[in-house]
Amino acid sequence: MFYETAGNRHNLDYDPFKAIISPRPIGWISTLSKDGVANLAPYSFFNAVGTDPHLVMFASSNLKDSARNAVETGEFVCNFVSDNLKEVMNMCAVNCAPDVSEFDFASIASAPGKTVKVPHVADAYAALECKLLQVINPVDLDGNVTNSHMIIGQVSGVHIADEAIRNGRFDVTHTRPVARLGYLDYSTISEVFEIKRP
Ligand SMILES: Cc1cc2nc3c(=O)[nH]c(=O)nc-3n(C[C@H](O)[C@H](O)[C@H](O)COP(=O)(O)O)c2cc1C
Repeated sequence: MFYETAGNRHNLDYDPFKAIISPRPIGWISTLSKDGVANLAPYSFFNAVGTDPHLVMFASSNLKDSARNAVETGEFVCNFVSDNLKEVMNMCAVNCAPDVSEFDFASIASAPGKTVKVPHVADAYAALECKLLQVINPVDLDGNVTNSHMIIGQVSGVHIADEAIRNGRFDVTHTRPVARLGYLDYSTISEVFEIKRP
């Protein structure tokens, strides 16, 4: 099959777009509001965009609290979502009022930041402390500014739980990252293989 995205006539029950771009890592983004309220929400439009320096991005459809806080305070943290935390991660997708912290709502323990004021998830196997570099609002083919807010940050500090390191590596067979697929589907690592580069 083929369809053009204008009109999105795929004749399927649901748009397959996000299932095609899968698995996606989940950035469980913690921020502070300008009034100091801690916020925590999952974003699967999330990825690394560079290693020298270490850069990451997440994208908010509409300016949600996480994106607004990152823009207003210049800081955010990407917490690692492991299989044992998937249910509490999902609870953080609740539409909380901005003065309610998802840390409290989902009873998630926080730990203080070292290079940022933003707290991170105490039980996360890893957390990337980030400082805001750039916000991009893409302009679409019709010349309209879209409501996608791409937040790019530079990683300034990395927390890793000691038990996540096995044989000198961050061991994904132990930490079991959760990935977002399409629809309401998720996946986790069940097999790891190596491919040597040519
Ligand atoms: C696994 C998962 C991934 C999500 N990814 C995104 C995303 O990439 N962009 C987005 O705008 N919303 C995403 N959402 C929805 C937000 O998490 C949800 O709207 C949340 O309430 C936003 O919180 P905030 O306003 O505190 O930032 C996702 C939800 C889940 C459960």
